[in-house]
Amino acid sequence: MNEKELILTSLLDCRRVDIYTNPSCLTIFQERIFQDILKRRQDGEPLQYLLGETEFMGLPFHVNPDVLIPRPETELLVQSILFLYREQTCSVKIADLGTGSGNIAVSLAKNINSAKIKAIDISPAALNVARNNAKRNGVADSINFTRQDIFKFFNDNNSFRSYDLIVSNPPYISQQGMRQLPRDVKHEPVIALYGGDDGLEFYYELINGAAQLLKDSGILALEIGEDQRIAIAEMFAVQKETFFLHFIKDFAGRDRVAIAQKAPVTMKEKIANLDNKLKQ
Ligand SMILES: C[S@@+](CC[C@H](N)C(=O)[O-])C[C@H]1O[C@@H](n2cnc3c(N)ncnc32)[C@H](O)[C@@H]1O
Repeated sequence: MNEKELILTSLLDCRRVDIYTNPSCLTIFQERIFQDILKRRQDGEPLQYLLGETEFMGLPFHVNPDVLIPRPETELLVQSILFLYREQTCSVKIADLGTGSGNIAVSLAKNINSAKIKAIDISPAALNVARNNAKRNGVADSINFTRQDIFKFFNDNNSFRSYDLIVSNPPYISQQGMRQLPRDVKHEPVIALYGGDDGLEFYYELINGAAQLLKDSGILALEIGEDQRIAIAEMFAVQKETFFLHFIKDFAGRDRVAIAQKAPVTMKEKIANLDNKLKQ
């Protein structure tokens, strides 16, 4: 369906066939709403915000301007994790840091039966959206949503060596990148995009913190910006005794996901083989 069809069928209850065979199917009131929505779309408002809906990992998610619109590259992050954990039968304790719409936490809870997830975000408005999405997808009991700052999360000594998996798609756009955002992206929350001057601020914290909070052989899974591989590899190099690191490319050949296993490394081959498995 094209955008016009989506708006008419999803928001104005039009049947697709009527759009072409019965152009006067809209009342005057509906026609006004339609023209208003079209104008907002022409001004760059993302279609997903206008519809209030998107799909991620085949699941339905509510979205609004309080949350980032889930992206296909984040599906690569989730698919990588599922490949490593899908068949796990014993409990998997997971932290999703910067949960936004809850897309990562919800998809993991849907696909890993034994998942117990703590999902944090600094934005109360985003957490409301995430809680709704967990309910909507029937996994609210598996996820504990908490308002917390990533930069404070790692100071929680009670969590020392307690997580099997830490996952994050943190804000990673640099100061310069923020000035060059595409028109649609400018409608998304700055707090979900801006990753400090160099875009890397969150990764220092995530890599150092995960070394403390992951159990032995735990996994740190990160989405990264397309030009950040070298910088991220350097950060891990400081911890090279602690982590085995592997980058995964998207279909365009760009490194978009970093998977790191804390020592002792038990899944080296499985992790190194992820690219082939995911593209099969
Ligand atoms: C790039 S978005 C990712 C959202 C979602 N996980 C996804 O993959 O689409 C980053 C998220 O981190 C949250 N965030 C930003 N700064 C934060 C902080 N200091 N502590 C916790 N969450 C933060 C934002 O509110 C946003 O929801």
